[in-house]
Amino acid sequence: MEQPQSPENFLSQLVIRPLEESDLPALEWNGEFKHFRKVYENAYRRIQTGKLAAWVVTLPEEGVIGQIFVQFICDRPELANGTDRAYMYSIRVKPQFRSLGIGTVLMRTVEAELVNRGIRTATLNVAKDNPRARQLYERLGFKVTAHEPGVWSYPDEKNVWHTVEQPAWRMEKVLVADS
Ligand SMILES: CC(C)(COP(=O)(O)OP(=O)(O)OC[C@H]1O[C@@H](n2cnc3c(N)ncnc32)[C@H](O)[C@@H]1OP(=O)(O)O)[C@@H](O)C(=O)NCCC(=O)NCCS
Repeated sequence: MEQPQSPENFLSQLVIRPLEESDLPALEWNGEFKHFRKVYENAYRRIQTGKLAAWVVTLPEEGVIGQIFVQFICDRPELANGTDRAYMYSIRVKPQFRSLGIGTVLMRTVEAELVNRGIRTATLNVAKDNPRARQLYERLGFKVTAHEPGVWSYPDEKNVWHTVEQPAWRMEKVLVADS
């Protein structure tokens, strides 16, 4: 009979790699995130310009089980300023793979990638009704720096616009301290 794997063995099978165009359907998670199809397509186009990056977590048998997007520049320099400050968002691990350390590995891996790209401060917004995610970010060294109204709009897969209002905490982590 197959033995259950220890978390260490399980984690050693994870691959974290840049998002590829062929991954886009998998980001819809069998329909749950179909409404973000255009958001992901637009994001993928921005990746080609270097203004954005995204990584996926994969497992051999499962394919894509997690994701993270990072903006290097946006119209809010306090989040991403085009030089040394970048904004992490759409951080997600599939429900059946949560609380196994994958989110932690993903964040740490991407932090290292950002440092290699000259990023000194990482920012993110975490919904006020998501204390577990906030706890994870705090454990990783992020600190709350501001309140965010969390209002944003997106076109769904049929091009119908939706507005989301999700009050959030802005969090920041200094990846590279001033010398
Ligand atoms: C937030 C999210 C990305 C975290 O991913 P994750 O893979 O569950 O993260 P981790 O497993 O590294 O850490 C989560 C918890 O598991 C615990 N954990 C980590 N490794 C563990 C292990 N080997 N055994 C048991 N527990 C473990 C951590 O202590 C942590 O506990 P806490 O929440 O009480 O602090 C994931 O929960 C998720 O996708 N949530 C829904 C979307 C979301 O809220 N995204 C964040 C938007 S800002």
